[in-house]
Amino acid sequence: MTNPRLIVAIDTFDLKQANEILDQLNPDTCLVKIGSVIFNALGKKFLKHASSLGFRIFLDLKLHDIPNTVYQTIIGFNDCKVDMLTVHLSGGEKMLNKAMLAGKSINAKVIGVSILTSLEEEDSLALFDNKLEDQISYLFKIAAKANIDGIVCSPHELEIANRILGTHSIKVTPGIRDIKVEDDQERTMSAKEAIDRGSTFLVIGRPITQAEDIAKALENFNDIIYEK
Ligand code: C5P
Repeated sequence: MTNPRLIVAIDTFDLKQANEILDQLNPDTCLVKIGSVIFNALGKKFLKHASSLGFRIFLDLKLHDIPNTVYQTIIGFNDCKVDMLTVHLSGGEKMLNKAMLAGKSINAKVIGVSILTSLEEEDSLALFDNKLEDQISYLFKIAAKANIDGIVCSPHELEIANRILGTHSIKVTPGIRDIKVEDDQERTMSAKEAIDRGSTFLVIGRPITQAEDIAKALENFNDIIYEK
């Protein structure tokens, strides 16, 4: 598989567990997500270890700060191989412009987080006094204006994303649940449906990392995506 579309989120602060997960993944069939849980505990050392094994890195630090701070943070990864990194779209157009500038200089794509998949309609009304779909459209328009490389959204908003950003931009969708479970994710969808609706990459954490057989769970998701 030359272009894997699954990003496995390694959300643990425990080095032994992180390595056990990594050992069961395959760089030909997935990328790995390094987010705040693992990065704050294990830092660049783990990131570099994962890339040395051949894994492409989705650095999901969801940066949300003033333009110069975001710029410097990204430039600080110039000694790492990062495929994609995330910033919050609500950081505004000027921040996104600086993020793109920094991303280009370290050869990483900049992906803007819209509204977390753990939030639902009532959260959007409470937080923004705006309906979720309207708030998302508003954020996508800022992303389009800043011409950033892609966005993160729930699979439910892919249609709006394709309309506002075009089909060429990268769409990363977390909130993938093939079996309905009670957890912190709200706006969920199955892997197959997300791909059919135009997702470029699926971020999947617990359904793979907490499976009894991690390698098999990864293979199963890839089979679903590639309709084997
Ligand atoms: O375990 P689970 O499949 O819920 O993991 C989803 C991953 O995607 C987590 O690492 C989470 O931080 C990330 N994510 C998300 N919603 C976003 C952006 C990223 O769930 N909007």
